[in-house]
Amino acid sequence: MSISTLVLGSVNVDLVIHGPRLPGPGETVLGGEFLQAPGGKGANQAVAAARAAAGTVAFVGGVGDDPFGTQSREGLTREGLELSGLITFPQTSTGIALILVDAAGQNLISVASGANARLSPDHVDALPDELFAGAKVFLTSLEIPLPTVRRGLERAREQGLITILNPAPADRGILEGNLLSLVDILTPNETELCQLTEETWGSEAEGAPTGAKSTADDPSRWRAAAVKLTNRGCRSVIATLGPAGCLAVGDLEFRQSAPAVRAVDATAAGDAFNGALAVALAEGQPLTAAVRFATATAALSVTRAGAQPSLPRRKEIEQALSRWTAQPTEGVENG
Ligand code: RIB
Repeated sequence: MSISTLVLGSVNVDLVIHGPRLPGPGETVLGGEFLQAPGGKGANQAVAAARAAAGTVAFVGGVGDDPFGTQSREGLTREGLELSGLITFPQTSTGIALILVDAAGQNLISVASGANARLSPDHVDALPDELFAGAKVFLTSLEIPLPTVRRGLERAREQGLITILNPAPADRGILEGNLLSLVDILTPNETELCQLTEETWGSEAEGAPTGAKSTADDPSRWRAAAVKLTNRGCRSVIATLGPAGCLAVGDLEFRQSAPAVRAVDATAAGDAFNGALAVALAEGQPLTAAVRFATATAALSVTRAGAQPSLPRRKEIEQALSRWTAQPTEGVENG
């Protein structure tokens, strides 16, 4: 079987309440609706890639031997993913994410890692060479142990794959031990960009703790922070900035706007972006086109509730792209 994209990461079951607003510490907010949906950044990215791809996507991860694990495996199987690297850990819970979403589509997420925390470098070592050798792109994220992420990147590099690290949730451990030199494309969102560089920006961030951000667009601060990360060894940074689109620095430097959409739920927008980016690069699309494809995919995902239920299929992405041809990609330069 020929694999186009290989994804290593987490599996969660998301328990979601869509409420009128997010509670503060110690506060109870009544109202809203409950949704259970398949999630986890790794699984979301694999499903996003599978729905966007013409070829086969492989997923490596772990679930527990509980009913949530069975449901997760069945769901990923229905997506047509190659799952020889999906492990069921005995006497272990499947990862659970408790998610609160407000009326504007913003979320708060807390994760009990369960089986995700048991995925080790040994599990990556046990994967057959063919899984890597046939793939063009390797994509991973940070809801699994960092040594496991590193081993995945090392094996992908050895086999000449394009490597993408989505540093979500942010972990400054990726700045240690030359890990970023194993990464072709790093894809932080705005919060992760701040946390990884210990930057703050915008007037609302004055006096705020390190890693805080404001909602004010501040392209020069975004660029400075992204350049800091390329200086740590990755070839390119593509910072995803929500409604402000994204900023690429490194091999190519450009801004990509985002289509205006009515946001329902931002959960998994980053996963949609990363899965689609991986697929487009695996197909040989140039970076600017791949970022545009990924941006359209993420924009579609925020118009729907839930993580995996929100991820669009190839046809919808192509339709969205054709409606959106007028938008320019700004400032393409050699980095
Ligand atoms: O990126 C969104 C995901 O983060 C959710 O599906 C949830 O499982 C958390 O891991």
